[in-house]
Amino acid sequence: MILKPFKRESIIPLPVTFISTISREGVRNIAPYGCVMPVLRPLDLVCIATAKRRDTLDNIRATGEFVINLAGTGFADKVIPTARYSPPEADEFELAGLDEKPSVVVGPPGIKGCYAWMECMLDKLFEEPRYVLIMGKVVHLEIDDAVYRPDGSWDLGMARPLFMTGSNTSMNYCTVTDTGKSDSFGAMFVDRKDPLEKMYREFSS
Ligand SMILES: Cc1cc2nc3c(=O)[nH]c(=O)nc-3n(C[C@H](O)[C@H](O)[C@H](O)COP(=O)(O)O)c2cc1C
Repeated sequence: MILKPFKRESIIPLPVTFISTISREGVRNIAPYGCVMPVLRPLDLVCIATAKRRDTLDNIRATGEFVINLAGTGFADKVIPTARYSPPEADEFELAGLDEKPSVVVGPPGIKGCYAWMECMLDKLFEEPRYVLIMGKVVHLEIDDAVYRPDGSWDLGMARPLFMTGSNTSMNYCTVTDTGKSDSFGAMFVDRKDPLEKMYREFSS
């Protein structure tokens, strides 16, 4: 089957993250974002593709701060209440019935009940006529203790990260599971040594 080039989300599962921001006037905003990508290992940058008409983008321009909240499948029913248009003066925590998790470094609060939180400062905006790429620098990264293991892996069965695949008419919510197979990072290299090994050993959390 040959698909139209725009139907990329039909073949790539996307994470359903929730980005929380506050406006210059202090109004709390939440929006689901799937086009979210960490930029290389081991940088502290994360890139988000956004349409131009988004309160999220306006708020990030205004304050330079945002939180990427990583949610489990239990948040599937919070997608539409936060994705549907609401005016900039509407408090989307209240609208969606979500509670705050106070942030540690940035002004916008995170969302209580998520399994991880990336507090970010705006690093750079890449402005294009049809979209904007937001480059964020992660300034505080936190994961629920119940989900994280001392070796840096995490309990997928407990976190059940919320993902989506697309069809012609809908977003289908799914999650990821372990295959039981793994490879060391070092296995990619001729000498079988991960050049970043020391860094990960020194900063085990
Ligand atoms: C699952 C899902 C993923 C989304 N991902 C993105 C995205 O990556 N970029 C984007 O610009 N809009 C995305 N949207 C659309 C925005 O969430 C939506 O337009 C929202 O109303 C924007 O809210 P805001 O104006 O408060 O920022 C997504 C919507 C859904 C339901």
